[in-house]
Order: sequence, then structure tokens, then C-alpha cells
Amino acid sequence: MSNFAVSLPDVIAVLPAAGIGSRMQTDCPKQYLTVAGKTIIEHAIFSLLCHPRVQRIIVVIHPQDTQFSTLPIAQDPRITLVHGGEQRADSVMAGLQCAGLAEWVLVHDAARPCLHLDDLERLLSIIGHSHVGGILAAPVRDTMKRSEAVVQIGAHPAIAHTVDRQALWHALTPQLFPLELLKICLSRALREGAVVTDEASALEHCGYHPILVSGRSDNIKVTRPEDLALAEFYLTQRQ
Ligand code: CTP
Ligand code: MG
Repeated sequence: MSNFAVSLPDVIAVLPAAGIGSRMQTDCPKQYLTVAGKTIIEHAIFSLLCHPRVQRIIVVIHPQDTQFSTLPIAQDPRITLVHGGEQRADSVMAGLQCAGLAEWVLVHDAARPCLHLDDLERLLSIIGHSHVGGILAAPVRDTMKRSEAVVQIGAHPAIAHTVDRQALWHALTPQLFPLELLKICLSRALREGAVVTDEASALEHCGYHPILVSGRSDNIKVTRPEDLALAEFYLTQRQ
């Protein structure tokens, strides 16, 4: 190992993969669907492991998961398996508890198969500039409307006003934080009943302001049936 590699702080990855994919409406959880020759979760794992700084990945699976262990990647010594919880944040917390002494942690959804190495590199480069961490995010492109809570025309809500999109971003993953800071913030946010849909919201709950690192908009989360064809397109296009 070179001196350069030794001097860099450790980065561990946590991959929440304990969801059931209810919006996908398929028999098996969406992370086990095949796109471009591999399961979605394998694409997600390889996209992290192809960076030399990611030495270990904690994959958080559902307690009743029987599929992960059938994948060839399950034999990789860099992977540790942990059981997840009811909400995504509970699963991430379970993963963090097993993360050992690494300095930084990357959290990446198992349902995002299209992460580019360039984006991962750009996110990792904030280490050394930030003590709080940051997330990959994509600027909002569409004109954004807030709906009026009370005015409704038939089944359709009316527009209250247009929201300035200049300051709006889609939060993506991976998200990168100092491990101890994320553990403290996430456990406090969970204890205090905050809505935690990503790791950054746990830090925000505790008064921190993580960095927004501009990332590619094709880093999609496979959520609904129509997203599968899009992921297949993005993945095959770059092969
Ligand atoms: N996840 C998890 N533990 C949970 C819920 C979600 O580890 N209790 C993971 C999912 O496996 C996924 C990521 O968090 O990789 C993002 O969640 P989402 O896209 O909402 O996936 P699901 O919860 O599986 O899908 P749905 O909400 O449609 O049921
Ligand atoms: Mg979900």
C-alpha cells in the first residue's frame, strides 16, 4: 500500500436494502430485479466498490431476505450483512452500529443502480474541506408549484403559488458524513420523532448544514415500474 493511501481517512459504506419495494408492485423486492444483466443491488454495490477508498460495505437486508445470499457478490469478503428495521432510517442506524471505527461513512440506496464513479469521486473530495459532510444532489429543472390545502376543484388541488426553483435540489445518494456525527444525529432524530427520509435530514434536525454536491440526474432511484426501463437505458448506454 502506498503512503498516500495510508494517510487518507477510512471510508465505509452502508447500503440500506431492507425495503420491500411496495410501489414497484412486483413479487420480489425491487433491489433483486435484473437490469442490464445484473440485479439492481449488484449494480449499486459495484458502483461503490469500484472506488479504491471504499474498502468495506455493510449491506442491510430484511430479516426474512433469502435472496441476497444467492448472489455471487454475497461471497465478497468486503461485504458484511446486517438486518434492517421498519423504516429506512432504522435500517441505516442498524448498519451504522456495525461500522466499527471508520472515520467517514457513505450511505447509498440499494435501489440506485446508476451511480457514476465521477460523482462518487466528487462527493469523496469534500473530505478535507468539510467537517459536516454532504450529499449528491441534482438541481430541480421543472417549474415547481405548491398546492393549496383548502381549495380543490373536483379531485384536483388548486395552485397556491410557484416555488422558486433556483434554490431547490433533489436529494440523491450516496450521502457522506463523519461516522460518529451521523450516528449521534440519526439516533437523536429518531428518538425525537423527526421525519428522516435521508441522512442529511438527521443532521439538519441537529442544526448542521451539510454540503450539496451537484450530481448527475441519471442517478435515479428505481421506485415505480416505469423506472426500470430508464435504468436499463442509462446502464446499457455506458457499457
Ligand atoms: N430501505 C431499508 N429499510 C426499510 C425501507 C427501505 O433499507 N425499512 C431501503 C430500500 O431497500 C431502498 C432504500 O432504502 O434501497 C430507499 O427506499 P425506497 O426507495 O423507499 O424503497 P422501499 O421502501 O423498498 O420501496 P417502497 O417505499 O415503494 O415500499
Ligand atoms: Mg420506502
